[in-house]
Amino acid sequence: MRRLLVCKWDRDFMTLLKKEDIEVYLVVDQYECDHCDVDLSMADVAYKISSFNSLEELMSIVVDLREKKITIDKVVNFIEHGQLGASLLKHFIEKDSNILEKTLTARDKRLMKAVARSVGVTVARSCSVADLDTELSSATAVLGYPFILKPAYGIGAYSTYKIKDHAELNKIVSDLKTNGLPGFLSSQHFIAEEFINGEEFHIDAIWKNGQEIIFSISRYFCPRIGAGNRNLNGSIVLPESQYESLYREAREVCLKISRELDFRNEAVHIEFFIEKNSGKFILSEFATRIAGAAVSDSIEYAKGSSLHQLLLKSLLGDENTLDSLNVKNPPHDTRFVGWCNIIPAVSGKINKMPEKNFFQQYKNIFKIQFLQKEGDLVNVDDPSNWCILIVLGADSEQGIVDTCNQILSDIKFEMIPS
Ligand SMILES: Nc1ncnc2c1ncn2[C@@H]1O[C@H](COP(=O)(O)OP(=O)(O)O)[C@@H](O)[C@H]1O
Ligand SMILES: [Mg+2]
Repeated sequence: MRRLLVCKWDRDFMTLLKKEDIEVYLVVDQYECDHCDVDLSMADVAYKISSFNSLEELMSIVVDLREKKITIDKVVNFIEHGQLGASLLKHFIEKDSNILEKTLTARDKRLMKAVARSVGVTVARSCSVADLDTELSSATAVLGYPFILKPAYGIGAYSTYKIKDHAELNKIVSDLKTNGLPGFLSSQHFIAEEFINGEEFHIDAIWKNGQEIIFSISRYFCPRIGAGNRNLNGSIVLPESQYESLYREAREVCLKISRELDFRNEAVHIEFFIEKNSGKFILSEFATRIAGAAVSDSIEYAKGSSLHQLLLKSLLGDENTLDSLNVKNPPHDTRFVGWCNIIPAVSGKINKMPEKNFFQQYKNIFKIQFLQKEGDLVNVDDPSNWCILIVLGADSEQGIVDTCNQILSDIKFEMIPS
């Protein structure tokens, strides 16, 4: 029996581990317990900590395992807000000496940009803003307006602003000082970046022994910063046969990063822009984790293989042949697959929402996940407020867009406005 220490609550992944007869030591923090419908009984052993930023709580787990003489085969660290903490566990438990530098590069957007530049990958011009009071004026002098201001350790496009002029900058800085960042963001350092105008894409890949075993590109319906109730929030998986040159260019960029960071056995999630005027490929960010929302599900329906399964295969190696992990044919025959967040038209408290069978009237809806329930608060301007995530197919990209728009116009939520 193999034993994994899993640093993230993910019901589908936990179910998969159970099927593969793997003993699971789960580490979850208070944020996940409060927001993610965690079921600790699915783990063989569960450690609940206040935060992945709490060094003493993390080290207590390392020592507890040593005291009990428990050997962990692998640490799975694809949580986003706690990746550094999870990597610290990996460092101590797997004696992986590269993991901390690698994770830091994939978490701190300033270091990420510096490393990308150093290997010849095009990124937006940027400036570190470690202090909003003293370092913004030099950033605006370098970048001009409009520019993007975002947390150096940001996630989910939270607290990310496109700033058009000095007056807007003053207002945003004053709001940030009054309200602070969301609780799961602890560093108060920012990065300012030149604004890139273009379409935004994401790459999702798994590396095994330094080679890709899956590589997928999707296009966001619109850049994440503008996604919310006014714009569709999700993406469409792009078939390689129709986007060959984009795949070629993306692989080249990915290889440069991968050589520099020595991607061996990990999940990689990368975002990039194709700039509108120049058609240039501009790397936006990279992370060593599986993407959130329904990205993984959409790739599974498009390509017939699950990122979670392949990551497991990559972590556990060839000697453990996991038969269920072979790439299968996609389980349907639509040419395109995408995912979309279905949310109410206005922010507030959900008083009544439709049930799963509401979606029966639409063709090719492959998966429906309710992440919010009656009584929950929805903020429609938040690009990561996942409410109902659907995965769907169509014979054209436009077909997917049309179905999503139709659903959003038909669906009825009864809201108590905030
Ligand atoms: N330089 C930029 N130009 C244009 N849009 C940007 C830029 N940087 C970020 N964005 C927008 O903000 C979103 C969030 O920024 P990102 O760097 O991906 O951080 P995270 O996803 O970790 O919150 C991006 O998906 C993109 O839509
Ligand atoms: Mg991002």
